[in-house]
Amino acid sequence: MTSPGNGIGAKPKRRRGSRGGRRHKKATAANAEPQAAEPIAPAAKPQAELETKPKRRRGGQRGKKATADAGPSRVTARPPLTTTRARTPVTGAPTEDVPAPFAHPAEYEFARILDFYGITWQYEPRSFPLRWEQGHVTEAFTPDFYLPDLNMYVEITTLKTGLTAEKNRKMRLLKQLHPEVNIKLLKKRDYLRLLSKYGYGPLAPEQVPEIDRVLIPVTKLQRRVGELGALISHDYAGKEPVLIGILRGVICFMSDLMRSISIPAAAVDFMSVSSYEGNGSGAVRILKDLDENIKGRDVILVEDIVDTGMTLNHILEYLQSKRPASLRVCTLLDKQARRIANVPLDYIGFEIPDEFVVGYGLDFRQRFRNLPFIAVLKHDLLP
Ligand code: IMP
Repeated sequence: MTSPGNGIGAKPKRRRGSRGGRRHKKATAANAEPQAAEPIAPAAKPQAELETKPKRRRGGQRGKKATADAGPSRVTARPPLTTTRARTPVTGAPTEDVPAPFAHPAEYEFARILDFYGITWQYEPRSFPLRWEQGHVTEAFTPDFYLPDLNMYVEITTLKTGLTAEKNRKMRLLKQLHPEVNIKLLKKRDYLRLLSKYGYGPLAPEQVPEIDRVLIPVTKLQRRVGELGALISHDYAGKEPVLIGILRGVICFMSDLMRSISIPAAAVDFMSVSSYEGNGSGAVRILKDLDENIKGRDVILVEDIVDTGMTLNHILEYLQSKRPASLRVCTLLDKQARRIANVPLDYIGFEIPDEFVVGYGLDFRQRFRNLPFIAVLKHDLLP
């Protein structure tokens, strides 16, 4: 995030020679891709470790930092961050004390929003040379964030419109010189919109105060569901399996999974069963039975989550009684820690910890099914 150093919303100055406690490190190549890094936990630091905004001399990364190096292939870059992810809720958290390495409250808040949504980020991992004189870089641009999942650089701006001309000039230059770089210049309103565009909605975290944190973000879900579809397509090549989903939690998973299966004409069917309601009334009841005849067919049972395994155990026994040619299980989530019935799982999306999760079809009292990610519900809401 560059700023002219004065004016409303301008980034406060850092001490010379200090970049919020982080050291310069020479990049091996200016066009080297940043390394994946776990987000840091700035807000989780002890108070004593928190710095107030350090003074920073940036001036658009001109001069000292850039000219210290011999050429475009030796622009300084900082190492990726490697500490663990913050679990601090974004909403309402103070941003006046901005911990290192951030230089501005907006950057800090953006990092916490990314953490909330489980989006991996790196802070200022790379500088792009913009101008050279006699083989030395005399001007460079260091975007605030790199988001590996989206392959996108983000530059945050809180400057008033009149002060953004210099930043816009650098952005234009960057796009000319490095057209392959995907970069967005964002105001706070814009970055909330951007996250929502990429499926990290709803727009503001405060709209789902019951959520503790995102456990599996959209991009990871999509990637893994695609992998499962590819595996199934490979394993069932030359066959036409019947996919049977267990309503209602499976809806999102089923619709994404079936579209990522490339073998032709897989039939799709659904069942619905009653869950235990604490009244001691008999066994699992089938509320909606199959429409397809599965005798002699290859069946894949698709589940949202296997917890104790007791529901699945019952359904598998029922399906086996219909004498399919084969029967396998594909579950998006496996809560192994709570397993009671030892059910065979052939395809597993993610093993998750012993937490109650919602979203992507999964509910708590019929709510949260429409969240595009898997999130952990706040513990105090659970019975
Ligand atoms: P099981 O019989 O204990 O394996 O329970 C399976 C069913 O319980 C799933 O199909 C879900 O409907 C529900 N369930 C278990 N854990 C969760 C959770 O963390 N979130 C939402 N539903 C869950």
